[in-house]
Amino acid sequence: MKYPDKVYLNGNIVPSAEAKISVFDRGFIFGDGIYEVMVQINGSFFYGEAHLNRLQEGLQKINIDFDVSELPRAISKLLKVTDLTDKDCMLYIQITRGVAPRQHSFPSDVKPTVMMYAVPKVLPAINQVNAGVLSRKDFRWSRCDIKMTSLLGNVMLNDEAIEHDCYETILHRNGVFTEASHSNVFFVMKGIVYTHPADEYILNGITRSVVIDLCKLHGIEVRETPVSIDEIATIDEAFLTGTSTQIASIQKIEEHILYTDNKKGPITQQLQEAFLKLK
Ligand code: PDD
Repeated sequence: MKYPDKVYLNGNIVPSAEAKISVFDRGFIFGDGIYEVMVQINGSFFYGEAHLNRLQEGLQKINIDFDVSELPRAISKLLKVTDLTDKDCMLYIQITRGVAPRQHSFPSDVKPTVMMYAVPKVLPAINQVNAGVLSRKDFRWSRCDIKMTSLLGNVMLNDEAIEHDCYETILHRNGVFTEASHSNVFFVMKGIVYTHPADEYILNGITRSVVIDLCKLHGIEVRETPVSIDEIATIDEAFLTGTSTQIASIQKIEEHILYTDNKKGPITQQLQEAFLKLK
C-alpha cells in the first residue's frame, strides 16, 4: 500500500507531505469524527449517493454541522488533480469536529476538518477469496451504526485475524453474530439468507443493503434476523460484504469448515454473479 501524493484538506488540494492538521484536532485527540470509503468503478462511484447520505447521517448523529452537498465538486477536483477522473479508485473521506482546547463536551463555533484522498484501486470482478474467519466476542461499544474514526476495537479484532492467518474476525454479542471487523456478515441456512438487523450493533453497510436487494430481486428469501452462535453447525454457507470486500465467501469459521478447496456455496456464487452485473 502506498500513500497518495496529494490530499484534499479543508478546501485545498496539497502535497501529502505538506498537509498539516493541528495536534489539537478532536479527530486526533478523541477520534471525534466520521469517515466514509467508496470506490469508483467504470467512471462512477458505486452507490456514491448512498455513501454520501450515510456520511451526512453519521455527522448528524454526532452533531457535526457539515453539509456533504459541497463534497461532489471537491471530489471531482481531487480526482482531476490526481489524474484519477474516470479511473477505478478508492476515495477516503474523513470529517472531524475540528480543532479546540481539550474538553470532552462539544465545543461551540468550531469548523470541521475535512480531509479526503483518492488512490488507484481496481477491484476483482468477483472476490475469489475463500475466507477463513475467527469468531470473537464483540467488545466494541453499542453505537456501531456510527461510522466513526475511533476504530480501535475494529483494529484490534482485525489484527487478531491477520495474526491467525485469517481474512476477517466475525463478531458476536449476546449470543448472536453481529458483523465483522470491517465488513458485514451473512449466513445461509436451508436456502434462507440471514443477516443481523441494521440496529445499533452493526454498521449498516451499503454493500449489505445492495445484497439484501439482490436477494429480493432473485427470489432468494432474506431475513434481517440474527443467527445464534449455537446454530453454527447448521450453517450451510456464509459470506462477508463490504465496499472493497464486495462479496467474499467464508470457507471456515474457526474450526467449523463450510467448504474445502476452492468451493463455495451456490447462493454465495449466485449473489457474487448478480453483484458483478451491477457493476
Ligand atoms: N468498512 N461493518 C464495518 C464495521 C465496516 O467497517 C464496514 C466497511 C462495513 C461494510 O460497509 P460498506 O458495505 O458500506 O463498505 C461493515 C470500510 C470499507 C473500511 O473501514 O475501510
